[in-house]
Amino acid sequence: MNPPLLLAIETSCDETAAAVMEGGQLLSNVVSSQAIHREYGGIVPELASRAHQDLIVPVVDQALSQAGTNSHELDAVAYTRGPGLLGALMVGASFAKALALSRDVPLLEVHHMRAHTLSHFLEEPRPQFPFLCLTVSGGHTQIVWVRDYLDMEVIGETQDDAVGEAFDKCGKLMELPYPAGPLIDQYAQEGNPQAFSFSSTAMPGYNYSFSGIKTAFLYLLQKELKKDPGFLEKHRKDLCASLQAHLIAMVTEPFFRAAEEQGIEHLAIAGGVAANSGLRQKVKSHCQAKGWAAYIPERGFCTDNAAMIAMAGHYQFLAGELGQQTHSPLPRWGF
Ligand code: KG4
Ligand code: ZN
Repeated sequence: MNPPLLLAIETSCDETAAAVMEGGQLLSNVVSSQAIHREYGGIVPELASRAHQDLIVPVVDQALSQAGTNSHELDAVAYTRGPGLLGALMVGASFAKALALSRDVPLLEVHHMRAHTLSHFLEEPRPQFPFLCLTVSGGHTQIVWVRDYLDMEVIGETQDDAVGEAFDKCGKLMELPYPAGPLIDQYAQEGNPQAFSFSSTAMPGYNYSFSGIKTAFLYLLQKELKKDPGFLEKHRKDLCASLQAHLIAMVTEPFFRAAEEQGIEHLAIAGGVAANSGLRQKVKSHCQAKGWAAYIPERGFCTDNAAMIAMAGHYQFLAGELGQQTHSPLPRWGF
């Protein structure tokens, strides 16, 4: 059999994305980020669904033409079945199902978070199994024990907000546009990470809680703004650097401890927050000091994309894990 040619579709949140992969090799990777949400300071689910509807056809067309192929050549269609926003997922699922039906090829139902951990197989060097993956995004914060392409387990996760949400919500308090994570990263590079300190809640095991930090940050701003209305403008860089250092310390502590306690010396980061310069640097230097291997994907493979959906779809196809036309999207989907 020829290496399978897959089209992958990702529409779980506010990125409409499509990718084409042949035999595990990425041929094209198109991502269209929906700008509309900036005006509202966060994702508006209904607007995301409508934007996906407008974008899905041109994004898929572009992915197919950049790969030098067309929909008649496909061996399967992979799509994100969940977790994510229901209306947004429905657009990708309906499109994928209709295309697979019309071309008489199988469907591959991909778990968005599992796909984030498999983004590491899009680049060299590929991680060795088992590895521990810290998956940090706008909706999730998880430590995943990855034993094989399709065999993984969550050993720690947030009990409330995700770390990306903490970046975005504190950014909103600093009057930064959505998503604030990349801007905080930028400002932090010129700020003092020790200028402000915050307390944090320790959770049992390898779990996290990020809901307290927003409140602590809000109280700090309220107190300082009362004394000086120009506080935000004067201290934005130091606030960003201190917040970022604090969030990175919170997110890496259980991750490094889990690696130590479980004896895993291959560490990876994934998800949108893995694009953060401070987190990338900290994981790299900690692993170097310990003599461990660190896998840090290029930034475009950290934030939502369809290349990772294709990668997961590829291994599911090889394992014969095919989807069904009768299956609905799953906004909540455990591992
Ligand atoms: O994985 P992703 O693209 O979408 C979800 O599945 O949620 O992650 C988006 C999140 C947002 O919270 C965004 O602020 C954050 O990733 N993010 C960053 C950076 N780039 C994206 N956070 C901190 N520093 C960055 N450079
Ligand atoms: Zn994601």
